[in-house]
Amino acid sequence: MIKVKTIGITTGGGDCPGLNAVIRAAVKSAVLKHKWKVIGIQDGFDGLIWPEKSRELRLNDVSGILPRGGTILGTTNRGDPFHYKMPDGSVQDISDQIVVNAKKMGIDALIVIGGDGTQKIAYELQKLGMNVVGVPKTIDNDLLATEVTFGFDTALHTVTDAIDKIHTTAESHHRIMVVEVMGRDAGWIALESGLAGGAHVILIPEIDFTIANICKFVEERQASGKRFTIVVVAEGIGMPPDLETYDGKERRANARSGSMGNLIGDAIGNITKREVRVTVLGHIQRGGSPSPFDRVLSTRFGVAAVDLISTGDFGRMVCLMNSHVESCDISDAVGSIKLVDPNGDMVHTARAIGVSFGDK
Ligand code: F6P
Repeated sequence: MIKVKTIGITTGGGDCPGLNAVIRAAVKSAVLKHKWKVIGIQDGFDGLIWPEKSRELRLNDVSGILPRGGTILGTTNRGDPFHYKMPDGSVQDISDQIVVNAKKMGIDALIVIGGDGTQKIAYELQKLGMNVVGVPKTIDNDLLATEVTFGFDTALHTVTDAIDKIHTTAESHHRIMVVEVMGRDAGWIALESGLAGGAHVILIPEIDFTIANICKFVEERQASGKRFTIVVVAEGIGMPPDLETYDGKERRANARSGSMGNLIGDAIGNITKREVRVTVLGHIQRGGSPSPFDRVLSTRFGVAAVDLISTGDFGRMVCLMNSHVESCDISDAVGSIKLVDPNGDMVHTARAIGVSFGDK
């Protein structure tokens, strides 16, 4: 087993509440328990391409960052060293340079905090001989091999609070309020915040729906005396078949937050001739101070990552299983994602209390 003296830590992909809490826990545990030096790698793997961007993280550097959103290390979702976009516009594989630079910086092991894309890079770097351990991150909660990712709970608080506020306008103005939330591939945020916020319609990528079904549901609510409807839309939903005339392909190619929520809102308004307003929550879901749950989970993950290094368990990613912190091979955690089960208990619960998924 190698004698570890110095470790690196980096954050890649989209930011997420709890990243700083992981960094703090890892630095504290590495310094206090193991007397290791910790180097903070700036902006994902970019800090290993330009080592002068990186800096030592001492206890003082992580003091006070527990409640802070974002990441003190900076991040990027454009820094894949295996397909790196060079300043001249060409795309090159510069992964060897990363491995060499990490060695030059004296880094014996690297903690990589990130989602699916970042963990894939970590796995490839491990294959090139770097000692890597992973920490899973995403507000979308769609990573395989962990029950939950930090950031998700905070995002749910943010979205639920927003739906609560939107509820009052919906009710007072008798409107259909469409709330678009994040969730590029999976509907976890929409489903759970929709349940927590009392949404009437929840649209998720895992369940096909039609605009006609949503409008029918709205009219049934009207007929029963409910003059408002809250529709929560995951940004990653597919194009409904009854909007085929719309040039969906073009829109999806440039998909950015707001496109699907606005599309659904327009369509419902056109068909029902009722007043519709659309709110796109966007990046406020990724911001803010982590919830107590996320602070605790992040701290447990940061310590567990350092523990993996101390026992020489490289190529592993920390995860939560049955509420226990465990680890799995990074390779088992990447490649496919965790989707909502349309026949699972959460969807069953929602249907049982009258929520429509727009599929019937
Ligand atoms: O993966 C997390 C996520 O929040 C997705 O839900 C969303 O589509 C994406 O990040 C947005 O990324 P960006 O900040 O690059 O627009």
